[in-house]
Amino acid sequence: MTNNSSDTEQVPTHIAVIMDGNGRWAKSRGLPRVAGHRAGADAVRRIVEAAASAGVSYLTLYSFSSENWKRPEEEVRDLMGLLRRYLKAEIAELHGKDIRFKVIGDRKRLAPDIIRLIEDAEEMTAENSRMTLVLALSYGAREEIASAARKLAQSAAMGLINPEAIDEEVFAAHLYTGGIPDPDLLIRTSGEQRISNFLLWQMAYTEFTFVDKFWPDFSEEDLGQAIRDYSKRERRYGAVVHNR
Ligand code: IPE
Ligand code: IPE
Ligand code: MG
Repeated sequence: MTNNSSDTEQVPTHIAVIMDGNGRWAKSRGLPRVAGHRAGADAVRRIVEAAASAGVSYLTLYSFSSENWKRPEEEVRDLMGLLRRYLKAEIAELHGKDIRFKVIGDRKRLAPDIIRLIEDAEEMTAENSRMTLVLALSYGAREEIASAARKLAQSAAMGLINPEAIDEEVFAAHLYTGGIPDPDLLIRTSGEQRISNFLLWQMAYTEFTFVDKFWPDFSEEDLGQAIRDYSKRERRYGAVVHNR
């Protein structure tokens, strides 16, 4: 695949982002953590547009992990307030840009009005095709894998599926990401170099890049740079490749 910024640039089909560093961004300015989350939401708006313009087909943003429920009540409330505001303000805009919206994670833990906003947004944008924006909310990869195993075990116990038929493809289809291709590129901001329970199954062959900037400072140019770096990588998937 090519795009206009370079003749040979390989644009990743699916980019996943661990948007980290909002709290430290705020602290470095002497602001409360919520100010960092607000600035982080502005960065989301910019990067969604930049990714779609670059020709990315799937953008998955880690917005709230299953472990983030352990944060102080006030911070969780602030984050949920920002999420509510984002869903109310941005979905019509995404729809206007032909972007499909989807949420992965244990959405039952979210407030009923937020679940409703998510369902409406997914339904309204279901047929859009320019890019799919996936928000990981109340998402934990181990929980996702356990829940896929549970669903398959229930189907087997009911005689609906033969355990022998459970292979990688069947298993993947039972994850929250069923139908979505695996990420080609993972970006984590803030300088931390860990996965923090994100997309463990799906990232078996993903290329990783760690950016030394807090998420609110991550710019369109930084995204472009990450895509250019990715395009120089040689992906081998365990095989011997002689293509350069
Ligand atoms: C990422 O920023 C946003 C969420 C995890 C919700 P953090 O809030 O983790 O910011 P730091 O890592 O404390 O700086
Ligand atoms: C990962 O960031 C989750 C999100 C970005 C939503 P955290 O800040 O929660 O991760 P740790 O605690 O540094 O591993
Ligand atoms: Mg963090």
